[in-house]
Amino acid sequence: QFTDRGNNQKSYFMKILIIANRLPVKIERTDDSFIVKRSEGGLATGLGSLEIDAEMHWVGWPGIHVENEDEKREITEKLAALNYHPVFLTGEEIETYYEGYSNSTIWPLCHYFFSYVQYKAEYWEAYRRVNGLFCEEALNFIDDNDIVWIHDYQLMLLPKKIRDNRPNVMIGYFHHIPFPSYELFRVLPEREEVLKGLLGADLIGFHTHDYMRHFISAVYRVLDLNCNLDEICLQDRIVHVDAFPMGINYEQYHQATSLPEVKKISKRLIEELGDQTIILSVDRLDYSKGILHRLEGFANFLENHPEYHKKVSLAMIVVPSRDAVERYADLKTQIDQSIGKINGIYSTLGWTPVYYFYQSFPFNELVALYDIADIALVTPLRDGMNLVAKEYLATKNRKPGVLILSEMAGAANELTDAIIINPNDTQEIESALLQALTMPGKEQRLRLRNMQKRISTQTVRKWANDFIAELLHINRQNNEIFQK
Ligand code: G6P
Repeated sequence: QFTDRGNNQKSYFMKILIIANRLPVKIERTDDSFIVKRSEGGLATGLGSLEIDAEMHWVGWPGIHVENEDEKREITEKLAALNYHPVFLTGEEIETYYEGYSNSTIWPLCHYFFSYVQYKAEYWEAYRRVNGLFCEEALNFIDDNDIVWIHDYQLMLLPKKIRDNRPNVMIGYFHHIPFPSYELFRVLPEREEVLKGLLGADLIGFHTHDYMRHFISAVYRVLDLNCNLDEICLQDRIVHVDAFPMGINYEQYHQATSLPEVKKISKRLIEELGDQTIILSVDRLDYSKGILHRLEGFANFLENHPEYHKKVSLAMIVVPSRDAVERYADLKTQIDQSIGKINGIYSTLGWTPVYYFYQSFPFNELVALYDIADIALVTPLRDGMNLVAKEYLATKNRKPGVLILSEMAGAANELTDAIIINPNDTQEIESALLQALTMPGKEQRLRLRNMQKRISTQTVRKWANDFIAELLHINRQNNEIFQK
């Protein structure tokens, strides 16, 4: 049972359909079958804890490339048991819709990498077509009065497509990455259709007020619609826009250091590393993450501060991602070279300046690293939110630690007690490292306490519930207006 913000008496019984590019699963091929494993990312956790009495369904790409109809049927049946409904993509669609329009056009545009943006007619055609495939699959499960919640930049045309077919459902859309300023967005040839696609929603959410403002400004200038700070007036309805900063499952991270397995890993790491100070960085492989600038900042630091040689190491985790996209593959080579150069110059027989891991880590190992790390260096050039910064802070309960955070991450709006830096300024990265290394324990604890207070209340659970509550509230208002 769920009560919305405005009416404590009313309860709702309905379906919620979550539509995202990826289903929250990992599918592995065995000799003659498939194994489906749930992958509990932030989104799945938040949506799993909705305070609403509704049946949950997911529609999304299962992340595996299969063309054989029997195999598709087998996967579909296995997923149906979880209320997950797959949209299968062909090899060509993966190339043009996913690697193409989503990750070579929209992604660089929204992250201010203007010169990386690729315009290809076949990318746009595939994006339209695949948004249509998601719509077809979703329509099998949507009845009037259900809630449809669409996620992220891969599916910006979907709100309108669903609205055209089911005018009475409640439609929410959340944009997980930055929305760029109008001056950048306007360069997109398909700007009009993309915005109209989004306006099929009743509620459009962003992580920050800045992204919200950029979006409304783009709608006003491109579509010439009547807008105010958080509403867009269409002929027959109003689209609401709001900021919902996404959080994490705070308790899961905060309690992790008491898990026996995590304690064991932390103990082993501490024994192996001795009294070395560890700076930790964790990202997906992506040019928006500022990995090369970070390495340059660390190299400057080593050059100018020999007193820290053999005492400080950077543990850099880079999680493989989108490696079929050229820019990502090039970046991987550059990172390898940069780390090779630093280690080549400064390593001694007993000391490695950069420990480099090109792999993803299981939860227990990741939190053990958060636990032992003295400093987290989170320096994206652009980032919608950045949850690594929040995970690091939440895990810190055995000993304190310092967060160095880019002002270009959405999280910087909330985590104002971090050492905030401009990630383009490698000298600033160097001086932030010095400040962190010399920060008294008392100050570390004070800053940490302030930030933990914030992230322990603004959790992913709250994020998801706030969004749905606002969507229900808007729907009730609309119904009242309609009845009058
Ligand atoms: C970002 C995007 C997500 C995406 C994730 C992983 O966080 O906002 O929509 O799922 O990256 O990227 P991938 O391309 O592997 O799905």
